[in-house]
Amino acid sequence: MLFRQLFDLQSSTYTYLLADETTRDAVLIDPVFERFERDRALIRELGLTLRYTLETHVHADHVTGAWLLREALGSRIVLSRHGGAAGADRSVDQGDVVTAGAVELEVRATPGHTDGCVTYVAADHRMAFTGDALLIRSAGRTDFQQGDPGLLYRSIREQIFTLPDECLLYPGHDYSGRTVTTVGEEKRWNPRVGGEASEEDFVGYMRNLGLPHPKQIDIAVPANLQCGEPEGGAVPARPAWGPTVRTFAGTPEIDPTWVADHRDAVTIVDVREPAELTGELGRIDGTLHIPLGALRERLAEVPTDKPVITMCRSGRRSAQAAVILEQAGVRNVANAAGGMLRWRALGL
Ligand SMILES: [Fe+2]
Repeated sequence: MLFRQLFDLQSSTYTYLLADETTRDAVLIDPVFERFERDRALIRELGLTLRYTLETHVHADHVTGAWLLREALGSRIVLSRHGGAAGADRSVDQGDVVTAGAVELEVRATPGHTDGCVTYVAADHRMAFTGDALLIRSAGRTDFQQGDPGLLYRSIREQIFTLPDECLLYPGHDYSGRTVTTVGEEKRWNPRVGGEASEEDFVGYMRNLGLPHPKQIDIAVPANLQCGEPEGGAVPARPAWGPTVRTFAGTPEIDPTWVADHRDAVTIVDVREPAELTGELGRIDGTLHIPLGALRERLAEVPTDKPVITMCRSGRRSAQAAVILEQAGVRNVANAAGGMLRWRALGL
């Protein structure tokens, strides 16, 4: 199974990508709205088909990317039956199984942080995704939404701590860079619910956390009750000038065939060294030539009346050039994917 743990720095949220390496069927657990382009790029680059997005609960600290991903990739939205959100394609409850190729996730109801919290457990019980029910050496707060510390204690003890000790636990968040834990470790070391902690101990701990009101709650909860559909249901606009995509590396990129077909509508900036222009790959007529090392000083020479396409030998240096131009405020810019090598291979 293919497995990736992704992180949103702003809300400290983990998003998990799981896929069948043979069929390429994939699921994404707890996607973040603002990380939509990143997630889409990774799914594209790994050649996956996103079947489902799964929410561990209705989040209060970030808006889910579930709706955006469904609009863009046709994935189906999975949410707890008790989450209270509208717009899901599938409502799940204790014992249900979500399947995508060989990826099989069993649903365990783990309420207490919210009413609709669920933990997704891999069928072989080697890993589980606990959302905010159990965090590494911590537990989700119980002082807003439908928080109930007694209920959370029983969820953790009965649904999570009953998994094998070596079962890896992946939380919904971590605020200090920890990425994974195990059932055995948390049973022993979790300061809130581990060791000999009774329900009373846990409730006392949770009632006295004194945490600040979450910053995003007034925006995040209403949006998540619609599975992350923005007001007016508009997908963030993609550049109108051409079919650009953003890579997982963060570069705007465009297909060279499109560039060849729209040669007069764009400015091509070739960032290779002078000697390369007379080599076997040659050069494209009418391109502007600025070697990458000189681009920062010669930004003023790049006309911005038309979209700018960056070009080099293999598409690596030109990717950096596209980023330099973007950072300099050039809005319509993209790297010609694969550079002159691809241009030549395609017979352009
Ligand atoms: Fe949460």
